[in-house]
Amino acid sequence: MNRNLHYSMEHLSSDRLAKVELRDLVKRYGDVLAVDHMSLTIEDGSFLVLLGPSGCGKTTTLRMIAGLEKANEGEILIGDTRVNDLHPKDRNVAMVFQNYALYPHMTVYKNLAFPLQNFGHGPVEVHRRIGQAAKLLQIQPLLQRKPTELSGGQMQRVALGRAIVREPQVFLMDEPLSNLDAKLRVHMRAELKKLQRDLGVTTIYVTHDQVEAMTMGDQIAIMNEGVLQQVADPKTIYSHPINQFVAAFVGTPPINLIEGTYAGGGVFDAGEFTYPLPSKLAKAAQGGSTEAIVLAIRPQDVHVGPASQEGDGAIQVQVYTTEPLGDLMILDFAIGDTLVKAVVSPDFEAEVDDRLSLEFPPDKICLFDGKTGLNLT
Ligand SMILES: Nc1ncnc2c1ncn2[C@@H]1O[C@H](COP(=O)(O)OP(=O)(O)OP(=O)(O)O)[C@@H](O)[C@H]1O
Ligand SMILES: [Mg+2]
Repeated sequence: MNRNLHYSMEHLSSDRLAKVELRDLVKRYGDVLAVDHMSLTIEDGSFLVLLGPSGCGKTTTLRMIAGLEKANEGEILIGDTRVNDLHPKDRNVAMVFQNYALYPHMTVYKNLAFPLQNFGHGPVEVHRRIGQAAKLLQIQPLLQRKPTELSGGQMQRVALGRAIVREPQVFLMDEPLSNLDAKLRVHMRAELKKLQRDLGVTTIYVTHDQVEAMTMGDQIAIMNEGVLQQVADPKTIYSHPINQFVAAFVGTPPINLIEGTYAGGGVFDAGEFTYPLPSKLAKAAQGGSTEAIVLAIRPQDVHVGPASQEGDGAIQVQVYTTEPLGDLMILDFAIGDTLVKAVVSPDFEAEVDDRLSLEFPPDKICLFDGKTGLNLT
């Protein structure tokens, strides 16, 4: 792909690039508040992933930026231009849809040419742009085929091609990989990321897949029920989640959440066990709105050791089940009604009912307010 890039870069001069800014954006469908006062800046040339569960408002946000949906309140800026009242055609964005939306009766070439002709480009320019995109995506041999004669991955590349030929300021992508099988998805993930980096076009990429988000995004914006929760780079999202929702949404296996209370005295009380909190965490716990606290620790950070003495700070547990995964093993421990998971090396020797002890390194613990869900640490 690289050899062709010098050629394509010449045609994507820097004035084509643009940051995107959303200011207090609101979208309602009747009683449903699909997007709730969303403010977000996507820097020029960066790759932002919009992540969140089904129905949280990702597609609606993207469609408002594209101009396919009208915002009830707020502003959308592309570059320095307010685009709220611009026709989709005049916004200089190109959208890639989940279902590719190719015209089945047209050849690949015509699928790529059609939108350009609609924009009034002449045949020479159309030909130049298609040639360039086809080289970049390595779909030259497919140009005379129809979409029904393509594999899923090839269709996906044609759909991308249709966005690239537009030479837009912004790419908007709505789960473009979700129709591919797992192996191809992982492959296209890397390809797409590289393509975006090479072209340098500001990209907003929607997914509900946290692994996709973590591996692809320069920045991740996490939404829940129409509300933007946190915007940060993947590492920060993982290590410093702003609230319990974000903490639970990223990471595999999911972060352990242990409900309890902090009644002072530096001790977290989970009912089944108590856990002495170092002073920094105890101080954080005092900042909660109630006594209810959720102690969170990622399975990768839980230290598993041999059974030890009560009162030495470790939690005495029994193995509930083991989940060998080849390259690692997950151990599950039942503490009261809560299952605590720990990731250990695959050759760790443990059987169901074995007595072991758990330690939580203090710098890996997050405490969440039991009522508001906010990260107190
Ligand atoms: N045209 C519409 N009319 C009424 N309600 C809608 C319409 N489009 C979306 N909604 C509602 O708005 C909310 C947000 O929908 P949206 O499609 O943006 O979610 P999403 O995050 O893209 O979800 P998914 O991951 O399932 O694609 C949902 O509650 C949805 O039911
Ligand atoms: Mg959607």
